[in-house]
Amino acid sequence: MKRPVVELVGTGRCIPRNVLTNADLEKMVDTSDEWIRERTGIRERHISTADETLARMGKDACEQVLEETGLDVAEIDSIIVATASPDHLLPSQACDLQATLGATNAAAFDVGAACAGFLYALAVAEGMVVTGQAKHVLVVGAERLSAITDYQDRSTCILFGDGVGATLVRTASNSSRGIISSYLKTDGTLGKLLCRPGGGAVQPPSEEMIEQRTYFLRMEGRQTFKHAVRKMADACEQTLKRAGMTCDDVDVLIPHQANLRIIEATAKHTGIPMEKAFVNIDRYGNTSAASIPIALDECVREGRVKEGSNVLMVAFGGGFTWGSMLVRW
Ligand code: ACO
Repeated sequence: MKRPVVELVGTGRCIPRNVLTNADLEKMVDTSDEWIRERTGIRERHISTADETLARMGKDACEQVLEETGLDVAEIDSIIVATASPDHLLPSQACDLQATLGATNAAAFDVGAACAGFLYALAVAEGMVVTGQAKHVLVVGAERLSAITDYQDRSTCILFGDGVGATLVRTASNSSRGIISSYLKTDGTLGKLLCRPGGGAVQPPSEEMIEQRTYFLRMEGRQTFKHAVRKMADACEQTLKRAGMTCDDVDVLIPHQANLRIIEATAKHTGIPMEKAFVNIDRYGNTSAASIPIALDECVREGRVKEGSNVLMVAFGGGFTWGSMLVRW
């Protein structure tokens, strides 16, 4: 096993108060609680109100991490936010969060890799710590997908929810804790299968954009599903191989929560029993970049991830981007 040099320490999350149930969605589009539960495993998701901005929710989650680690906000050197649904397009979400948190000594920027964004952000943070660019990096996954979801499209609106999760990346406090290995991959040729066609520089805001609802997220669900299953399993294998470890060494699998069937297939193909896989999609739906840090926080607080646990995180999302990371907690 490779010796970790960089560790994850402390976790936090913030979930909006309001709940949108499958029964609520039955009143909005032609769907049923039974269809949603059988096809996705989702029962409900949380939807932010106007005052529950990502900056505000991010502050909550980060303050929990600061409390856990005993760090003062002034000791934070960098904030990286993974998001596909920022409060503003400019400045970045991380800049808003840096201001709200009062992290006056931190450089702040976003990482855009959709549902795999948190793992990409962790890899960037690892590099910053290794090179001495930063000592303490807050890594945040933050989404208000409700703002970019088309609630007239039954194939996507049943899936998404809002929330924020966070952790801290720093030099490992001992040689057995921390990031053991990781694997990141992209296939931009498949980008159109999961995208927001309008609202960017190619299709700037216009009446047509509003009319055709191209500002909202669109997804070819069936095709995305197939790629997700194959690529998440492959990412797990590659990460374990790089670590010189096997599926038997994994104590907890934390998969991106996009669909219960994808989680089950990933666990099966990787050779990890479902009892080791953490699932909270029933309560939150798909929160994209926020799903892994929210799950990690729940695992740590419930004692499912404890000192010495080997935690395998894996994600797949728009881009397509995917990746995996093995961490000794
Ligand atoms: N309620 C009832 N029926 C529905 C609904 C709904 N909400 N949505 C679709 N259907 C219908 C379809 O119209 C279709 O009907 P038809 O057979 O008459 O044409 C039928 O149900 C089956 O549709 P599929 O799209 O084939 O359903 P599937 O079993 O694939 O489930 C889902 C759809 C849940 C979206 C699934 O494909 C999926 O989870 N895809 C992957 C999602 C994912 O991993 N995304 C990546 C991360 S997200 C990110 O990066 C932001």
